[in-house]
Amino acid sequence: MKLTVVGGGSTYTPELIDGFARLRDTLPVEELVLVDPAAERLELVGGLARRIFARQGHPGRIVTTHDLDAGVEGADAVLLQLRVGGQAAREMDETWPLECGCVGQETTGAGGLAKALRTVPVVLDIAERVRRANPDAWIIDFTNPVGIVTRALLQAGHKAVGLCNVAIGFQRKFAALLGVSPADVHLDHVGLNHLTWETGVRLGGPTGEDVLPRLLAEHGGAVAADLRLPLSLVERLGVVPSYYLRYFYAHDEVVRELRTKPSRAAEVAEMERRLLAMYGDPALDEKPELLAKRGGAYYSEAAVDLAAALLGGGGSPYQVVNTHNRGTLPFLPDDAVIEVQAAIGAKGPAPLPVPSVDPLHAGLVANVTAYEDLALDAALRGGRDRVFRALLAHPLVGQYALADALTDQLIAHNREHLAWA
Ligand code: G6P
Ligand code: MN
Repeated sequence: MKLTVVGGGSTYTPELIDGFARLRDTLPVEELVLVDPAAERLELVGGLARRIFARQGHPGRIVTTHDLDAGVEGADAVLLQLRVGGQAAREMDETWPLECGCVGQETTGAGGLAKALRTVPVVLDIAERVRRANPDAWIIDFTNPVGIVTRALLQAGHKAVGLCNVAIGFQRKFAALLGVSPADVHLDHVGLNHLTWETGVRLGGPTGEDVLPRLLAEHGGAVAADLRLPLSLVERLGVVPSYYLRYFYAHDEVVRELRTKPSRAAEVAEMERRLLAMYGDPALDEKPELLAKRGGAYYSEAAVDLAAALLGGGGSPYQVVNTHNRGTLPFLPDDAVIEVQAAIGAKGPAPLPVPSVDPLHAGLVANVTAYEDLALDAALRGGRDRVFRALLAHPLVGQYALADALTDQLIAHNREHLAWA
């Protein structure tokens, strides 16, 4: 089996390699290609990747290259984990919306729109080249904003599935709180990428006993503390929102907080400098502790599980992924991309039925779906007016003067990445 990671020079990659090494019985990778244009970084990451495989006795070969077309040739699956413009572009996304009183975040709100506009054309070009090299290859997209990027890929007819670690994070967390194994925890997970709620926590499988009420009664404090939301709110919701819902439920509080501290991008950039220095040490042959301070916990396990199930090997039969709605949420168009539990097989994900969604969540999901639709239109066709329409539709923007100000900022800060600007 050959896997290719586009954006393989990411400081996150050792997390992925560690997962491939530990879970090699589930996913027997013979060749792993790391593709990245940043040669120096790629060699540092590639060197550590080879040492991790060697230490763990993994027989797979690790190849590094800047040549995308060569790298994807013959790949069974291609993982996309790139960041157009790097942390510097993320820093902008997290900063200028704040000046307008809006959350500055890499995937939510105006910053997320900027990221979508920079990213969609690049990802579509890569996907086209993957298809040319191997039309059968699966594309697993970790590239944010995952909902919009996956919708772009599926709309262009690619064999793509979007993936995020929020669900697997909850699964691991809840399993620990309940004292059971993660494989026994099945989430009723509903919404859009970075806009989801856990509406049930079932033991043993998709129809197992729902222990969410017990989980909240016994461990509600720990769950709410992790989300940085008041326990009383989580209790009133009766479901567990992802921590991205804090940007909606506590928007103004988040804005005040973000204004008083360095951006996450700056924090991450500093961590990346330290990580790369560590990766250069020939004695290091495991993922360093510091990597745990990044947001990507368990993403390797989610990736292994999904690739294994898509490629007909092992892997869990049900996994939370981003895929076409196809009637699963009846209040959304069939071609909207939703994030739900799906049965995963060689033909791709088939969403499991979802019980009717509380209007409290459905309203926001429908609103953000409309925004994502307009965001994709702006990413594909460009133009100030399309950017404005997407922002006006966003529930965290909504007013024309604000949408106009944010549109101007977005374009001014992203000119070098936008072909039409
Ligand atoms: C979580 C999200 C990812 C996001 C990451 C950011 O894992 O699910 O989509 O990329 O956090 O983490 P960072 O360490 O870069 O802030
Ligand atoms: Mn994510």
